[in-house]
Amino acid sequence: MKLIGPFKQIITLANLPLRGKLNDEQLEIIVDGGVLVDNGKISETGNFSFLKNKFPDADFEKVEEDHVLLPAFTDCHTHICFGGNRANDFAMRNAGKTYLEIAESGGGIWSSVIHTREASFEYLLETLHERIKKLTYLGITTIEIKSGYGLDVENEIKMLRVIKEAQKTTPATLVPTCLSAHLKPRDFEGSSEDYLNFIVDEILPKVKNENLAKRIDIFIEKSAFQPQESKAFLLKTKELGFEITVHADQFTAGSSRIAVEVGAKSADHLEATIEDDIKFLAESGTVAVALPGASLGLGEKFTPARKLLDAGAILAIASDWNPGSAPMGNLITQASILATFEKLTTAEVLAAITFRAAHALGIDDRGRIEKGAKADFVSFKTDNFQNILYHQGSLSAAKVYVDGNKI
Ligand code: NIG
Ligand code: FE
Repeated sequence: MKLIGPFKQIITLANLPLRGKLNDEQLEIIVDGGVLVDNGKISETGNFSFLKNKFPDADFEKVEEDHVLLPAFTDCHTHICFGGNRANDFAMRNAGKTYLEIAESGGGIWSSVIHTREASFEYLLETLHERIKKLTYLGITTIEIKSGYGLDVENEIKMLRVIKEAQKTTPATLVPTCLSAHLKPRDFEGSSEDYLNFIVDEILPKVKNENLAKRIDIFIEKSAFQPQESKAFLLKTKELGFEITVHADQFTAGSSRIAVEVGAKSADHLEATIEDDIKFLAESGTVAVALPGASLGLGEKFTPARKLLDAGAILAIASDWNPGSAPMGNLITQASILATFEKLTTAEVLAAITFRAAHALGIDDRGRIEKGAKADFVSFKTDNFQNILYHQGSLSAAKVYVDGNKI
């Protein structure tokens, strides 16, 4: 048993509801607080002196100076396993080139596929590991990671094996997702429907056999997979026992509806979601995931996070970190910026990157500082939690804990 503290403030998020809007008066703040950890889980929180008297035999980890403690963050949507670099795409986009011109000059998702196919297992593992470390430095200890730059049996499995291997060397929780349905690869002979069937027949059995992922993702969009074939594909994967998440409504409305209809855990992007579909989503159990990093990377509008929350949706925010549309990878900066444009309260943003984001991954044992929860925390050297989002990512996490241990 270990008592950690005292913290100037502990923002527990313990009492907040899973869905809908929040105001900052709802935040539970323990002043001069302590956390008691036992076996990687939180066994008690409260006033530090009180806990010290109550548990005199507990080991004691003293926090010098003023720190604020929060539950560690979850990034529930990333593509951080990849080869190559798309800086040229970024430059060309900003110079006014179109999607087609960029693709024709060797850019776009396909160029990441080529570089990821060329990359060795070891190279992918090492670069993935570096990116995971960057995320943990931000205070993120639960990270979803997608395949989707292999797009054939060999390379999709390679990516998922790399992610599985990476789990052995990080204390963070990695959640792999199979995104073989990112794009129909240029070298596939057949229709996009044929390719989706190929995923079901040739890729998913291997994913299942090696226990490489429990989740399936698809990019439903004019330039990728069409609504009806996507729905049929998702229903098949569901029958195989996979959980579902969808890249939905990024440029064209309509696919968030499919996500809800197939019972997806989350519908991600939603920049183009129309009013009726906001309502449909808000009444469902599907988490709406905003990806401000993609809006910032592409210069596109933000997800209507305010409207989603007001309608009662479960809103999460994730980085979408990938080599193309979202190269930044700083979830705290992105969430802070989304808050300024969409007018999100501090409570709404913190919920969206903690327990609501974990819920999008089907994980409900973390993201709140409360009895029984996984003891993953992040502390910031400040006396007021408002400073964290105020500095828009430039106030670094001071200490990051996994299972109650500093990493
Ligand atoms: O979430 N929208 C589709 N997929 C990714 C982009 C991946 C890429 O550009 O490489 C996204 O933004
Ligand atoms: Fe994405």
